[in-house]
Amino acid sequence: MVLNMTKEEFDVFFESYAKNVDEANTQNFWKLSDALILEIIKRHVPDPGQKGVILDAGGGTARWAILLSKIYASKFTVFDLSIDMLKKAQKNIEKERLGERISLLKGDLADMSNVLTESVDHVISIYSPLSFIEDRDKALSELHRILRRGGKVLVMGHGYYNAIASKINNYRAAATELHGLDRESLVKWAPSVPVLNVFSKEGLEKMLSDAGFITKQTFGVPVFVQPGLEDFDSENKLRSEISKALEDGAFFNAVFDLEMKHNGEAYVANRGMNIFALAEKK
Ligand SMILES: C[S@@+](CC[C@H](N)C(=O)[O-])C[C@H]1O[C@@H](n2cnc3c(N)ncnc32)[C@H](O)[C@@H]1O
Repeated sequence: MVLNMTKEEFDVFFESYAKNVDEANTQNFWKLSDALILEIIKRHVPDPGQKGVILDAGGGTARWAILLSKIYASKFTVFDLSIDMLKKAQKNIEKERLGERISLLKGDLADMSNVLTESVDHVISIYSPLSFIEDRDKALSELHRILRRGGKVLVMGHGYYNAIASKINNYRAAATELHGLDRESLVKWAPSVPVLNVFSKEGLEKMLSDAGFITKQTFGVPVFVQPGLEDFDSENKLRSEISKALEDGAFFNAVFDLEMKHNGEAYVANRGMNIFALAEKK
C-alpha cells in the first residue's frame, strides 16, 4: 500500500467530508470524543492571551478554532490544504462573526513556507491530519520551525494498535491486509477513504523528538469506548448502540471520567483510536 494521494483524490475526499464534518458530534460517540479532546487541550495548552496565536494544523472547517475562541483570548490561524474545507471554514467564521480572531491560510503542512519562523505560540492538530501526510517528518519539523520557544504542540494521528484490533474484530480483514498493516503502519478503512498513517505512542514521540521537540505526555482518544460502524456514516444519520447508550447523561459522564482518568497513562495510551501527543519547543 502507498500513502501518496493525487491532488484529485485529495480534493474529492475532502469535498464530501467538508459537507458533514461540522455535524459529526450529533452522534454521541463523536460528542464524547470531542469533549475528551477539548478537555485535554484546556488542561495542557495555556492561553497565550490577546496578542498570542494558536495555529490549528489541518484545522479544516475551523470548528475547533471557533469553539476554542470562546474559551481562549488568543487569535487562531486555521492552516489547511483543502480548498473545500477552507470555504466551509470561511462561512462558519462569518456566521459566528469571528473574522477578527480567526484567519485562514491555505498550504501543505509539509511545506509551511507561508508561515514565519517562531511566529506561533502553540499548535494543535486534531483528528489526524498527520495520518494523511506522506512526509510526516517534514511536517513535524515545519511545526517545530514556526513555533515560538516554550510553545506547545498537541498533535494527533490514528492509533496503530487500535487499527490492528479493529481490522481483526470489526472487519475480519484478510491475512495479507493484517500483515501489511503491521509491517507498513498504513491502513485503508474503506474504498472511499485514503490510505492513512497509523502511529504508536512510542513512534509518534520518536518522530516529535527527531523534529526537535521535548515530548511531554501522550494520550489515547478514546481508550475505552469503541465506535460502532454506524458512527462512520458520512451523513451522520445512523445511530450505533454505543451512541444510543451515551444519550444517558450519567453513562456519558462516567465514561468521560474514566477516559480522562486513564487516557494519559503510558500503558493505556496505546489503546487509543487516536494517539494525541503533547510536546514542547525548548
Ligand atoms: C480529518 S480532517 C480533520 C479536520 C479538523 N482538524 C477537525 O478536527 O475537524 C483532516 C484535515 O487535514 C487536512 N490535511 C490533510 N493533509 C494535509 C496537508 N498535507 N496539509 C494541510 N492540511 C492537510 C485536510 O484538508 C483536513 O481538513
